Amino acid sequence: MTAIQEKTLAVKVRKDFPILHQTVHGKSLVYLDNAATSQKPIAVLDALRHYYEQDNANVHRGAHSLSVRATEAYEGARDKIAKFINAASRQEVIFTRNATEAINLVAYSWGLNNLKPGDEIITSVMEHHSNFVPWQMIAKQTGAVIKYVPLTKNEDFDLEGFKCLLSDKTKLVTIVHVSNTLGCINPVEEVIKLSHEKGVKVLIDACQSIPHMPIDVQEMDCDWLVASGHKMCGPSGVGFLYGKQAILEAMPPFLGGGEMINEVFFDGFTCGELPHKFEAGTPAIGEAIALGAAVDYLTEIGMDKIYAYEEELTAYLFRKLAEVPQIRIYGPQPSQDGKGRAALAAFNIEGIHGSDLSTLLDHEGVAIRSGHHCTQPLHRLFDASGSARVSLYFYNTYEEIDRFVMVLKETIDFFTNIMG
Ligand code: ALA
Repeated sequence: MTAIQEKTLAVKVRKDFPILHQTVHGKSLVYLDNAATSQKPIAVLDALRHYYEQDNANVHRGAHSLSVRATEAYEGARDKIAKFINAASRQEVIFTRNATEAINLVAYSWGLNNLKPGDEIITSVMEHHSNFVPWQMIAKQTGAVIKYVPLTKNEDFDLEGFKCLLSDKTKLVTIVHVSNTLGCINPVEEVIKLSHEKGVKVLIDACQSIPHMPIDVQEMDCDWLVASGHKMCGPSGVGFLYGKQAILEAMPPFLGGGEMINEVFFDGFTCGELPHKFEAGTPAIGEAIALGAAVDYLTEIGMDKIYAYEEELTAYLFRKLAEVPQIRIYGPQPSQDGKGRAALAAFNIEGIHGSDLSTLLDHEGVAIRSGHHCTQPLHRLFDASGSARVSLYFYNTYEEIDRFVMVLKETIDFFTNIMG
């Protein structure tokens, strides 16, 4: 499909996102903070509203009609997610509050019970805090040691560095698929293959990949994969953990309470079966159902089409950013056709603070993020306290990139003038 045709795709889907059609400070909104959270199509908003208006009841607990409908819709959403990622079975999809909770689930259930002093966990320097802190907590309790894959000269994942770290001491590899700061797409298949040759388990943080590209967990062969609903057109408050069934079956429950039990006695309990064993308490029912609607929506468009269009947007974004003076973009360059990099760019402009940039851009209706993007250790490597970040999704247009770059250049001119 050509750029012009794909451009029509973005234009076509924009009507599905009511929030995009508003003015901010009197200017039409250009929303370019999609790595932080995506906007929600009408189909998702409708699903949430329908649930609360028509079906609201607790799941797996009642014989009345509302509870049956709620349970069917909730479990139906699980089926949709299982199909979306090509899980071998629906038992392999566990609803969580978000990706952070999913990583904590693995850390506390698997990590605490399988790691011992001297065991090594390999992660990378580009991880989100959610993939550092739980492992730091578990390492402290178990005596395990964390090793960090460095960056190449191009600020990409250093596969050779990874190979040097992988050893007989390694028990777990936990890495991000697409970096929310560097935008690099990591060679997860290669990492998983090399790790499995040594009997090492691998967790993939797919928060920034699953909204943008087709994901097949069986082909990838990861042991666990985590994602957040709100980054993939779904509501906040729901995410999921994928895990291979045999591994999940061998893991003890993480949180205890209702829903996750089989039987409870005064002196103990027996666990329920997968997936409920890991879903203690009343889940985010409406949100999970709405995430199912998001999956339907993305599937209807086609993840391959979304990915192809975003590659074209990436190529265009980087061509335009090359016109911006004094810009320092973090992470590798995409190829001419936008391949090899996600549609986002974290950057700094010499002499101008990222938060000043994003505040002034907001006054022009352009929403970008500034801060450390939950990757403080990575920013420290670059000797930066933070950066500004533009991140795109399939509903963004070429015209929006033009507007962003124009306003960015004007803002830089403004600062250059006042700084003399
Ligand atoms: N992790 C999210 C981001 O990158 C919140 O902005």
